[in-house]
Amino acid sequence: MKDPVRIAITGAAGNISYSLAFRIASGDMLGKDQPVILQLLEITPALEALNGVVMELNDCAFPLVQDIVATDDANVAFKDADYALLVGARPRGPGMERKDLLEANAAIFSVQGKALNDNASRDVKVLVVGNPANTNALIASCNAPDLDPGQFTAMTRLDHNRALAQLAQKTGKHVTDVEGMIIWGNHSATQYPDIAHCKVAGTPAAELVERDWYENTFIPDVQQRGAAIIKARGASSAASAASSAIDHMRDWALGSNGIVSMAIPADGSYGIEPGIIYSYPVVCQNGAYEIVQGLELDDFSKQKMKATEDELRQERAAVEHLLG
Ligand code: NAD
Ligand code: LMR
Repeated sequence: MKDPVRIAITGAAGNISYSLAFRIASGDMLGKDQPVILQLLEITPALEALNGVVMELNDCAFPLVQDIVATDDANVAFKDADYALLVGARPRGPGMERKDLLEANAAIFSVQGKALNDNASRDVKVLVVGNPANTNALIASCNAPDLDPGQFTAMTRLDHNRALAQLAQKTGKHVTDVEGMIIWGNHSATQYPDIAHCKVAGTPAAELVERDWYENTFIPDVQQRGAAIIKARGASSAASAASSAIDHMRDWALGSNGIVSMAIPADGSYGIEPGIIYSYPVVCQNGAYEIVQGLELDDFSKQKMKATEDELRQERAAVEHLLG
């Protein structure tokens, strides 16, 4: 049996975590042979609800769960954490954009960045789910000077999976037939879901769908899918967000099957200069991600990638005081 790894989850009594914690505990993230210690963080008023979640986790009698820590102290939750899933934050309601949450949520991520810096494993892999995820990840990273900024990532895998599903449905194929999907930029309505490098069952996607559908249906539908879920469910996506968080961490830790999208520190690739957390096409192997280089970009793509970059730089400017 492997040694257990420590997995911190924030917002552990919330909606996403109600799916996420159980799936991690059952081995969906790191494999059925990897024991886990769950370190669950909540705000003090939610500790009773968190206790209920812990009772249910215990009641599942998961073979892989070695211990469960439930706390309202970030220093305890992040102690020696190998993986940290930062979910705890306010969700948006109808009519809001995710960046409207910046003021309410940004402070959480400066505190948690410091706590990760002081307590987590030096190799911790951090995924920010709480919105606005890219800029929250930037805040956490800037407050953790002893950790490599590359250890801080934000989730655009849900957008990636949404795009796979839309294209598969449109072409009458299965999601597993689609390769080369890319989400560029921000987890927001400016994100650019790009099918220019995509193949469906070996055929270039651009040959299978009309340009008008791509520009005027596919792109806005993927960009607005979160809002459509909120409208339909009366609450933001939860199980699908948890599933994508598991996909993101699993691929980062264990390797991806081809190209996936991850929001990571911009490094100048594709003309996106450092200073923001930007979603790129990556491949993962041996516990590391690498940006896929050398893709050709047409003017349409360049303009969309610039629009989402501009939004991220505006978000950064709004939280400059929290960047340490
Ligand atoms: P929720 O309100 O059900 O749960 C959030 C939980 O976080 C609550 O239990 C709350 O008490 C807790 N919390 C608040 N501040 C905290 C803090 N400082 N430390 C620890 N816990 C704290 O919300 P949810 O539906 O689980 O969504 C959580 C976040 O994830 C929201 O910001 C939502 O917008 C975002 N989200 C992101 C994606 C994505 O693709 N990146 C997808 C879905 C949701
Ligand atoms: C989503 O994409 O479903 C989440 O970011 C929730 C939201 O606010 O849209």
